[in-house]
Amino acid sequence: MQPRTTIWELEPHTAAKHEILRRYIQAWAPILSQGNFPHLVFVDGFAGPGRYSEGEEGSPVIAAKAVINQLRPIKAKVDFHFIELDEKRSDHLATEIGLLTFPSNVSAKIHGGRAFQDTFPEVWDSYASRPGRSRPPTFVFIDPFGFKIPFSNVVKVLSAPSCEVLITFMFEEINRFLSQGQQPDNFDDLFGCRDWREGIDIKLPRERVKFLHDLYQRQLTQAAGARFVRSFAMRNERNTMDYFLFFATNNELGLKKIKEAMWRVDESGTYTFSDATDPNQSVLFSAEPNRELLKRLIVGKFEGTEVTASEIERFVVHETPFRETHYKKVLQTLEGAERLIPIDPPANRRRGTYADINMKLRFEPKT
Ligand SMILES: C[S@@+](CC[C@H](N)C(=O)[O-])C[C@H]1O[C@@H](n2cnc3c(N)ncnc32)[C@H](O)[C@@H]1O
Repeated sequence: MQPRTTIWELEPHTAAKHEILRRYIQAWAPILSQGNFPHLVFVDGFAGPGRYSEGEEGSPVIAAKAVINQLRPIKAKVDFHFIELDEKRSDHLATEIGLLTFPSNVSAKIHGGRAFQDTFPEVWDSYASRPGRSRPPTFVFIDPFGFKIPFSNVVKVLSAPSCEVLITFMFEEINRFLSQGQQPDNFDDLFGCRDWREGIDIKLPRERVKFLHDLYQRQLTQAAGARFVRSFAMRNERNTMDYFLFFATNNELGLKKIKEAMWRVDESGTYTFSDATDPNQSVLFSAEPNRELLKRLIVGKFEGTEVTASEIERFVVHETPFRETHYKKVLQTLEGAERLIPIDPPANRRRGTYADINMKLRFEPKT
């Protein structure tokens, strides 16, 4: 049920999402600023009131603090745009944002009483590239209660360099309306295609969820042209799935940083996040990665071939839920078992080390 009050109770699943947002923006702002981007933009398209009923911070406050409370101040100019349709909530947010102290290079604009669908294109166009000015890297957080997320807006973001989206995909809500055959225009708008209709006849809930997930992921990759898309599934304490987060970017470092944020989300036991990009093989984010699975993925990909450590790392980062920090132990195990043989290693190399990422490694075929 959607809350009707101005502020509402923070649910554990929202807290988990906030933790990911905080960690990501804490990394995003300094990386881009130090990467010589003079200007960054953050848009919270469904901003909410900025606080929850027990005093917990909402996403706009979290994102703003992630930028202004850095140990080393961010040099780039940072513009925040907070869009919130409900005027009581946007007024509340204005008070919350007013309590923060922004350095002169950081600004926040609240688009109160305005809908994301109408306001985002205006905000987006105001940063369009012109001669002598390129579009600033923009992070767009799309976090509705429902599913009024025009795909055309997502396409805009992903067609620009260094721009990315984090989207809450409330599949339960989507599923409910879909099975009632309601709001076809909104669904065309959400998916950016008409193919969701094939999901109406899928009766098994699990299969329907997989269908909707895969369709949205396909659209982000193929129709919006995102180079990297990862999805994350959130389960609550009853182990039922609450929502998916979709992250889409064209930037490899962005992909690495969102994975780092995911792997570091504290486990309170009340919720769990897993990588759901491949729904047949969901990987739980936990303190210790499942290296047996990673080993299977690496061996499955490279068995019988010769590759460099850097090619293995690329595969791990781009095509699996695991991180660049996870695979070297797997290589050590394989080398220890004589299933991985270094070819012409440097004379001073210690067994089980892969500092020379261009060294060729042979994956022995299974005997
Ligand atoms: C899930 S809440 C956002 C929570 C917030 N992002 C956070 O994490 O603290 C969704 C918010 O979107 C607002 N909203 C609903 N429809 C909207 C629309 N079309 N455009 C912008 N905001 C909208 C609601 O009033 C609500 O405050």
